[in-house]
Amino acid sequence: MPDKFDDLRKRKQKSKLGGGPDKTEAQHKKGKLTARERIELLVDEGSFEEIDMFVKHRATDFGIGSKRYPGDGVVTGFAKIDGRPVALYSQDFTVFGGSLSESHAEKIIKIMNMAMKLGIPVIGLNDSGGARIQEGVVSLGGYADIFLLNTLASGVIPQISVVMGPCAGGAVYSPAITDFIFMVKNTSYMFVTGPNVVKTVTHEEVSFEDLGGAETHASKSGVAHFIYENEIETLVNVRHLISYLPQNFMDKPADLVFNESTLTADKRLDSIIPDNSNKPYDMKQVINLLVDDNDFFEVQAEYAENIIIGFGRIGGMSVGIVANQPEVLAGVLDIKASAKGARFVRFCDAFNIPLLVLVDVPGFLPGTEQEWGGIITNGAKLLYAFCEATVPKVTVITRKAYGGAYDVMNSKHIRGDFNFAWPSAEIAVMGPKGAVEIIFKKEITAAENPEAELEKKLSEYIEKFANPYIAAERGYIDDVIFPRDTKVKLVSALKILKTKVDKNPGKKHGNIPL
Ligand code: HXC
Repeated sequence: MPDKFDDLRKRKQKSKLGGGPDKTEAQHKKGKLTARERIELLVDEGSFEEIDMFVKHRATDFGIGSKRYPGDGVVTGFAKIDGRPVALYSQDFTVFGGSLSESHAEKIIKIMNMAMKLGIPVIGLNDSGGARIQEGVVSLGGYADIFLLNTLASGVIPQISVVMGPCAGGAVYSPAITDFIFMVKNTSYMFVTGPNVVKTVTHEEVSFEDLGGAETHASKSGVAHFIYENEIETLVNVRHLISYLPQNFMDKPADLVFNESTLTADKRLDSIIPDNSNKPYDMKQVINLLVDDNDFFEVQAEYAENIIIGFGRIGGMSVGIVANQPEVLAGVLDIKASAKGARFVRFCDAFNIPLLVLVDVPGFLPGTEQEWGGIITNGAKLLYAFCEATVPKVTVITRKAYGGAYDVMNSKHIRGDFNFAWPSAEIAVMGPKGAVEIIFKKEITAAENPEAELEKKLSEYIEKFANPYIAAERGYIDDVIFPRDTKVKLVSALKILKTKVDKNPGKKHGNIPL
């Protein structure tokens, strides 16, 4: 028996070596950690339970039959993050460049199927040269099997992709279907076709980093939700994200203990809105004063910055925050901002995370670029997402809520549960100047002093419409509140909404304007 134990020890040891010390050294030299080192950093100490470490590929073509590494380029198993179970896979670049073979795919599929049965999040650490070239179509089939499972798992369990090396070709579509993509600056990239193909087809010269690096996907394409300087920082933040999420769609996010004595009026909120309503201010200041410990975990921070999305806790309760940012493009809704907001709202709704919506929006962005680019369809995404969401939904209008954007930003009419406004709120069909120039055009042009007439009409309009009280008279606004009391009101609203149940009509699925 001791011999057999010894044999088992050796086999396990061999599997843990991956592609061997040389390949590990090459990986380290690139500034990258190995698949197992990453897992160790990601999960609670000693919690990782590996499975399938003896799996090998079954291919024989192109001399690959003699090179069979136990584990076959991906480490899979279960672990805990802050005591809560997760399933994970971590591709091992030291074995055939982490490329995906039939058996490599089967390991990932096994983990994903288990994660769905167990109702636990799945985290994929991607570092792969793509389809195992020697296996041809069998590898493509493996990818398709994963794409199908990613789709079936969508909305059932949270799925997180962490891209820590190459991710190219069709392989990008697995992360793309998952809920969140993390990337590491300078060592990870994602693209459908690489720089060489780009050069052949479009004659553009572009580097790996510019085409599909972390910065590109964080700011230009919006593909990456989070990017960090290095792998360690990235993995720490994956843990942070998980802390806001429930385990599955039937679960609720865990509440943290909240020190009620800290819940008092905060006068700093009273002085954020400038006297001149056309002056910008930073909505993140408002958010930071509302979330516990000023801890706002922003999503897609560098993309479509005119809308802010992210997670925070209010009174210990996890919330998804959607806010217009008056500091960027006056907080207007454009194509990118609408799509960014919509996907986030749908994630929160799928996973029972209440929504807090902070509104200061002058409307939708005008112009041919926006119209021809489909602002109608894209704006409708955000509208649809808020309309269909049945989670607790709380809105605070801090200043402007003009036109269609008033309706879209979680208004009462589309099932906002608590809709508050600050006294500085201006709820109207459009901004005062535009409105007056249209409805009093004749009077202004005919007046002896058109400028004075414009000013007169402007102040009449502002007096009448640029306030929250007409909306409040109708009950479209549940309460006009002092800014300083906002957090107290939010904690109370979120507590009241704990037992909220709302349902959409039965259907196969809706048809969001994609
Ligand atoms: C088999 C692969 C591989 C692959 C890398 N390797 N990619 N083996 N299939 N797809 C092997 C290499 O032969 C090498 O083995 C080892 O992994 C490390 O690769 P290097 O090239 O030495 O590493 P590096 O210089 O860092 O370059 C990494 C790389 C490059 C940029 C990823 O390897 C590369 O371009 N690979 C091919 C990428 C590709 O075209 N994949 C197919 C994409 S299409 P040895 O033994 O020499 O160390 C695709 C379709 C998916 O994936 C479709 C889904 C629907």
